[in-house]
Amino acid sequence: MIISERVRLRAIEREDIPRFVEWLNDPEVTANLLICLPLAAWDEARWFESLASRATEDRPLAVEARQPGGPWVQIGNVGLHNFNWTVRSAEFGIFIGDKSFWNSGFGTETTRLMVKHGFETLNLNRIGLDVFETNPRAVHVYEKVGFVHEGRRRQAHYRDGQYWDVLQMSILRSEWKVARGGKWGAQTTPAKNVRGERIFPASCGPQGM
Ligand SMILES: CC(C)(COP(=O)(O)OP(=O)(O)OC[C@H]1O[C@@H](n2cnc3c(N)ncnc32)[C@H](O)[C@@H]1OP(=O)(O)O)[C@@H](O)C(=O)NCCC(=O)NCCS
Repeated sequence: MIISERVRLRAIEREDIPRFVEWLNDPEVTANLLICLPLAAWDEARWFESLASRATEDRPLAVEARQPGGPWVQIGNVGLHNFNWTVRSAEFGIFIGDKSFWNSGFGTETTRLMVKHGFETLNLNRIGLDVFETNPRAVHVYEKVGFVHEGRRRQAHYRDGQYWDVLQMSILRSEWKVARGGKWGAQTTPAKNVRGERIFPASCGPQGM
């Protein structure tokens, strides 16, 4: 479990599938995702089965959140994927499927938590993402967390009868440290071996190394 004040990230379970099917058939949720066709429960079940063959760090996580005094409830998914262990980079993706949680800071907190995990646990140096120009809310969230605009793929997306640009954003580890400004979680002292080299848990390293 990866935890912050109001958000926690856990592994996805088979029981989550019905919620995903409901959320990913909601046109408001999918308006800015790549999904554009109705999704069946068996599509999601097949996707769930495919997770087992992916590297652990490459599997999306379920986002759980709590309102003040309320219980933890699942509100969406978040993940890092397309890892490149030579340049230590990955791509970020998120959806908050429970719309009653939109605009209450949960997307921002979830993004911060995942970015922190990417830099401070997986030892990434770069996290990138693509976002459609039609999604100003997501762009605002990414800017708040410290992502920088780095490019625009013109007319690289097609939806609702017209072409749209795809914005490319990224955050580097050095920028994360600045954006974090010491206020986001306590600075932990990394574990080191006798030669003073930083030690990472075996499960966090690149697969096959
Ligand atoms: C995008 C998403 C993750 C944001 O999550 P969220 O919980 O609503 O985000 P937050 O509440 O943390 O922040 C939203 C911010 O955007 C602002 N915002 C809302 N609508 C906006 C708009 N149309 N234009 C610009 N900013 C907007 C809010 O005011 C808030 O900013 P503030 O905290 O500075 O006031 C969520 O809405 C979502 O999952 N949407 C559907 C799937 C999706 O688009 N995923 C991203 C694909 S790249």
